Amino acid sequence: MGPKKGAPSGPPLHLDERLLLGRGQLRACYHHPDSPELVVKVAAGQAKVQLQANHKELKGYRFLLRRHGRLEWVSHCHGLVATTLGEGLVCDCIRDVDGTISRTIWDHIHSPEEPDLSFLLAIAGQFCRYLEEKDIWLFDLNLKNIALQRQADGVYRPVFLDLKGRYDNNEFIPFSSYIPCLARRKRRRRARQLLSRIRHFHALRHPPPAP
Ligand SMILES: Nc1ncnc2c1ncn2[C@@H]1O[C@H](COP(=O)(O)OP(=O)(O)OP(=O)(O)O)[C@@H](O)[C@H]1O
Ligand SMILES: [Mg+2]
Repeated sequence: MGPKKGAPSGPPLHLDERLLLGRGQLRACYHHPDSPELVVKVAAGQAKVQLQANHKELKGYRFLLRRHGRLEWVSHCHGLVATTLGEGLVCDCIRDVDGTISRTIWDHIHSPEEPDLSFLLAIAGQFCRYLEEKDIWLFDLNLKNIALQRQADGVYRPVFLDLKGRYDNNEFIPFSSYIPCLARRKRRRRARQLLSRIRHFHALRHPPPAP
């Protein structure tokens, strides 16, 4: 049964720990049991903010789709489904050309091989410029939300995995979700933070040799 837009229906998809692919603070991400092209995200707990995350992401995705059409560098959402672990959001699974799950910037920094810092800074910078040029309102620019997908020509493509940000604004009155100049200022601040976090976590993981 394919995913439907709106409320989940039909027999629940069976998800279990063997299918677990990644975890964020709010959701766990599973391989779709019937399709390697898809993932299913479910709430990681019973807190309201966790239970609402899928709805916020779907809303965020639909907002981007209305405003920009189908964007090349974001993972696409297909709708909500019932699962044995609660309501799930079905999204494209981001894989490299050889079929392995694409690693996030965080995964690259924490991989056993020494990551190429200048490559990570360059691709993150490229992604931030893309947001700026197209005026895309994405703000959750954290290291685990950006996958680097290796393509057939060996070039990496950044893909944003987590679109709930616009509707997950913790400001008391979320002006920056609606006022363009505040949104742009926030995005530029978050872009600078992304680059400095890449440097920070890289230095923690791979400290320069003592003189
Ligand atoms: N479309 C996808 N394809 C492959 N892996 C994914 C995909 N979406 C998410 N993941 C993996 O699952 C992890 C958690 O996903 P996601 O960021 O959606 O969860 P979250 O709990 O909403 O995040 P946050 O902690 O930022 O609130 C990601 O860091 C990534 O490792
Ligand atoms: Mg996330």
